[in-house]
Amino acid sequence: MQITIALTKGRILKETLPLLAVAGIEPVEDISASRKLLFDTNRSDVRLLVLRGSDVPTYVQFGAADLGVAGKDTLLEHGGDGLYEPLDLGIAACRLMTAGIVGVTPKEGRIRVATKYINIARRFYAEQGRQVDLIKLYGAMELAPIMALADEIVDIVDTGNTLKANGLEARDVIADVSSRIIVNKAAMKMKHQPIQQIVEGLRKAVG
Ligand code: PRP
Repeated sequence: MQITIALTKGRILKETLPLLAVAGIEPVEDISASRKLLFDTNRSDVRLLVLRGSDVPTYVQFGAADLGVAGKDTLLEHGGDGLYEPLDLGIAACRLMTAGIVGVTPKEGRIRVATKYINIARRFYAEQGRQVDLIKLYGAMELAPIMALADEIVDIVDTGNTLKANGLEARDVIADVSSRIIVNKAAMKMKHQPIQQIVEGLRKAVG
């Protein structure tokens, strides 16, 4: 039975490959040195996809991949339909936060919020009972308050260096983020044994 695992390129990929190796799965070529997006592994029944993070839940939801590794931020934004989330790998840890200009008191009343996490932001501000106009951005969120595009941003914060370098400060924590294993719900039934074996291998690798 063929098992397809969707991985997130970038930092999550770098931290995932050693865990997969401990679980006995290694790509047959150097992923970072290739423009390919689909890779064979040392196991003839396992192949790897290398995707943008926000596309990993989509591939797994529709069964185009059986398993995936995705940040909790992308899972919260996606909503989790059709997915199981059996394992927290504890890698690529960071926090989803709101942020604004240093020293500026958050405005009362309706504010503008720039983010790529539109669903998360909508839920968070609604729970807080705050009225917001959401502005979808695809990157460089930290510029938005400085350029008066938005009063606040919602973004991931790791070291806080990016906020600091752009004159921003963190305000509220929305969620703690780390990378999770996700599994297509139908595949979990149809391919239970091989999927369970990979998940348990990763569980041991994480320790
Ligand atoms: C993320 C995020 C911030 C930065 C935070 O961007 O969007 O810009 O990291 O990290 P820090 O607190 O350690 O400075 P990333 O580099 O992952 O690229 P992205 O914009 O594509 O998400």
